[in-house]
Amino acid sequence: VSLAAFNTFRIPARARRYVRVTDPGHLAAVAADPALAALPRLVLGGGSNLLIAHDEVEALVLHMALAGKEIVGTTDDAVLVRARAGENWHAFVEWTLAQGLGGLENMALIPGTVGASPIQNIGAYGAEVKDCFHALTVFDFADGTTRTMDAAACRFGYRDSVFKHPEGASLVVLDVTFALPRAWTPNLRYAELAQAVQGIAVPTPRQVADAVIAIRRRKLPDPAEIGNAGSFFKNPVVPREHCVRLLDTWPDLVHHAQPDGSEKLAAGWLIDRCGWKGRNLGRAGVYPKQALVLVNNGGATGAEILALARAIQDDVEARFGVRLEPEPVLV
Ligand code: EPU
Repeated sequence: VSLAAFNTFRIPARARRYVRVTDPGHLAAVAADPALAALPRLVLGGGSNLLIAHDEVEALVLHMALAGKEIVGTTDDAVLVRARAGENWHAFVEWTLAQGLGGLENMALIPGTVGASPIQNIGAYGAEVKDCFHALTVFDFADGTTRTMDAAACRFGYRDSVFKHPEGASLVVLDVTFALPRAWTPNLRYAELAQAVQGIAVPTPRQVADAVIAIRRRKLPDPAEIGNAGSFFKNPVVPREHCVRLLDTWPDLVHHAQPDGSEKLAAGWLIDRCGWKGRNLGRAGVYPKQALVLVNNGGATGAEILALARAIQDDVEARFGVRLEPEPVLV
């Protein structure tokens, strides 16, 4: 099976073994087959946070296509909504808005699926999945069981969760339940978003979503037009002293103090300052409007994109003494 249409970088890799999962029973069947269960697995959602660096994928590809979304209940202060893993994230956000429910609007237009959203705790404009998270269901390949996990069990962090660590390697997300607040207030912590709705006295979730969509369209390439996987690097966190030293030389360094006293640096700024914005290496390039996004200018292989990523990592490290970490999963 060609994976070209199933990854937003549009790398034309092929999968030797591929299962389209439209029923949780498909996972149970794989787990019950000793030959299949022994294979390494690649769980594929929207393929929007993935870089395939080989022409052939050896792992068993589990393409999550479980469909369905519904309101499942209420608590004192929230409405509980559940979507199955294969649902498109943005379509789900739009659906919650159409139900009159706020809470996910800052994360409008993020590519990918609902099932992938807790894996890296997706976030944008001052909000993260963990803020509205209620619970999720997983299938565990270790023992073939299905169970529920709460936020604590998911161990959410910045673009991180237990699912990205060895302890979570046997788990596949089947559905996610969100608790959307009845008493909604806009989250306008992110200055650019606050500015965008400035003229509106009391913005609605819909209006905040529209502002987010407009900002994203302005800054980020549409994967339907240019192959990319969003931010290619995480914003690195460094000790305060490191940041203070850098500020001596680079007074306009973009940095944000963290609760633990460390500093998060804007990777886009670091890459931009190394002169990489808008530059190409072969058919791979750095998006001219946002240095944090690597793009496939047409026909690039995964290896070409990886080569560009390495060149950027080396330059940033030489100049600023910090090694950028890729955000997408590397296969
Ligand atoms: N900057 C530059 N040059 C650039 C890009 C950015 O100087 O080419 C500077 C900006 O001026 C700004 C700072 O770097 O002062 C931060 O940039 P921006 O506000 O665009 O956000 P970001 O840190 O680059 C993060 C997320 C995005 C998310 C936005 C908005 C990460 C790795 N990325 O980007 O998430 O949409 O904030 O909240 O945390 C993604 O994960 O795929 C993604 C797009």
